[in-house]
Amino acid sequence: MNLAEMTLTQYPPIADRLVAWQKQHGRHDLPWQNTHDPYAIWVSEIMLQQTQVAAVIGYYQKFMRRFPSIASLAAASQDDVMQHWSGLGYYSRARNLHKAAQQVVSLHAGEFPRDFDAIQALPGIGRSTAAAISSFAFGLPQPIMDGNVKRVFARYFLVEGWPGLPSVEKKLWQIAEAMQPQAEMGTYAQALMDLGATVCVRSRPRCANCPLQEDCGALLAERVSELPASKPRKTIPEKAVQMLVMTHEGRVLLQKRPDSGIWGGLWSLPELEIGQDGRAWGSQAFGLEGAAPVSLVQLTHVFTHFKLHITANHMPVDAVPLQAREPGLQWIALDDAIDAALPVPVRKILQALAAQQQVASSGQRQLALV
Ligand code: ADE
Ligand code: SF4
Repeated sequence: MNLAEMTLTQYPPIADRLVAWQKQHGRHDLPWQNTHDPYAIWVSEIMLQQTQVAAVIGYYQKFMRRFPSIASLAAASQDDVMQHWSGLGYYSRARNLHKAAQQVVSLHAGEFPRDFDAIQALPGIGRSTAAAISSFAFGLPQPIMDGNVKRVFARYFLVEGWPGLPSVEKKLWQIAEAMQPQAEMGTYAQALMDLGATVCVRSRPRCANCPLQEDCGALLAERVSELPASKPRKTIPEKAVQMLVMTHEGRVLLQKRPDSGIWGGLWSLPELEIGQDGRAWGSQAFGLEGAAPVSLVQLTHVFTHFKLHITANHMPVDAVPLQAREPGLQWIALDDAIDAALPVPVRKILQALAAQQQVASSGQRQLALV
């Protein structure tokens, strides 16, 4: 059976392996570990929301020395709190932490609540932070879901789509709920965080050291580098044009582009609408008669603000009458044209034509030898 087709309950359990891995290879000596004090854990989780562990440690220690309890934080002035947050960034975290400490004093008699909904109701505490505090401080079986966990789950369970999409995030929460163990909650939560931070890292994860490697969906499908999917780029407008490559006796017709717009002032190929009859157009615009254009090459050129799909058609013309010699038009030897300052896709089209003609002429030479 394909892993992606299994229902969640059919997955081999991951909690036991993660917990065992955490005990041996996880981080055990961070300053907010080895305590069940919800306040100490809460402060660390808020600092760790948008800041790396290494940057947090020093701030955390100073903050806890100055504000060792919920009561001391609640009683402090906002300036004092902000001063101890200064340098950590995302200052709304500090304002919310301060406000929440005051709420704990006013609503919960100064004692950090044990009820999951009451924890989540405090300013600055979302579902995942509430779950982390609940797991580490009280051993409650609430699943966490931060960037690291999303990456591990998206890979192990082959979850498609950008995890920032509500539908994808919902699926990840469902997985987290289904996998949530009922014992060793703190160790399990820390295992997920540490695995994501040290093994299942964004680029070049160390799968050979991973406790989930035997049945990791992304590893088995060789899709580790594709998951989790990155944020979809804004779609850019697309445009399609036909470029007409008119040739006569080894020369090609170039047309100067108007000064404004893309490739302003550069020499390029005449542009037509897609599907427009090149033969009729050549006759009408320039008095050029020739064979019906044949498809030469199709290519896409990506500008910063739009994508241009080019269909190049080749039309050998019979003769070059005077009216095809006006300013803004030139017949130029194909080799010289390729070396001229042309837009990149135009050069590619002319290179394709040169390559085609080389094949054709070597074919003719072989025929002549027979
Ligand atoms: N990021 C968020 N919480 C964390 C924790 N408890 N340990 C390490 N990194 C974290
Ligand atoms: Fe991540 Fe690799 Fe482990 Fe899969 S095997 S969970 S991709 S580290």
